[in-house]
Amino acid sequence: MSLATIPVRVARKRNEAEGICSFELVHAEVGTLPPFSAGAHVDVHLPGGLTRPYSLCNSPAETHRYRIAVLREAASRGGSVAMHEAVSEDARLEISAPRNLFPLNDEADAHLLLAGGIGITPLLAMAEALHRRGSSFRLHYCARSRSRAAFVDEIQSSGYADRVQFHFSEGAAERRLDIAHLLASPQPGTHLYACGPAGFMDAVLAGARAQGWSEQRLHHEVFNAAPAESAGDRAFEVLLGLSGRVVAVPAGCSIVAALSQAGVAIPTSCEQGICGTCMTTVLDGTPEHRDQYLTPEEQAAGTLILPCCSRAKSARLVLAL
Ligand code: FES
Repeated sequence: MSLATIPVRVARKRNEAEGICSFELVHAEVGTLPPFSAGAHVDVHLPGGLTRPYSLCNSPAETHRYRIAVLREAASRGGSVAMHEAVSEDARLEISAPRNLFPLNDEADAHLLLAGGIGITPLLAMAEALHRRGSSFRLHYCARSRSRAAFVDEIQSSGYADRVQFHFSEGAAERRLDIAHLLASPQPGTHLYACGPAGFMDAVLAGARAQGWSEQRLHHEVFNAAPAESAGDRAFEVLLGLSGRVVAVPAGCSIVAALSQAGVAIPTSCEQGICGTCMTTVLDGTPEHRDQYLTPEEQAAGTLILPCCSRAKSARLVLAL
């Protein structure tokens, strides 16, 4: 997490859909907030000491507020419940400056935005930005039902409503998103941006790769990775290449946690292998990748690792730390 934080106040908390609240954050002391680009997120420091990344889902042209939206997760690790239950209007929070790990590609001729559920949040900012700059785009918004889909009224009354299609899986079969059909015959200048839960992302990315979309045109951000299977974890050791120190990583303990106990801090945010914050260079050894951030090519190359979740196949990993 970034050391410099911004004090903000919750100016408005609103129910946007079943299980989804939005929070409008304004600077607690001065008028404006640092600018951000579409796809950016902030790390929110929550009551109880947790830190969670949330995408900014208002127009990037705004500097008087940030808006985030949070789905209350049935299997919450604490973050979404804290946001829903412990953060009310007028609450003070500390957040990081915006960071963008999911930016729009400025060279693209056209943009195809695919949202699954709460994954609409960064894509909403993208749709706003693309509409403002007059770029060619389409947004497909998939959710289980209308009542579980946030911001539908806002989208339907926006200036880009005619470029949006809603797909509700509890509705008529023909309204569900046909991924294979949508992604068939990819145009060379079109970039695809997808955000949603792991199952949705797996389907979209597998569909795109099967239809020949190149990795450079696939941009994605996952919400909530499936919990990693830890039963077969083995212990290994990490050699810090810059200092020569060796740190043991027991089974059931992440590299980040083992290094933290040894006094070596690696910046983290999601701690699930989805945001890229903890990415570290591997100098030697073989990573066992468990993240959903690196591309299959990057994982195969073995020169990068997300140590918040990934482990080692070799007895020792040498990291550029
Ligand atoms: S902290 Fe998000 S990928 Fe490691």
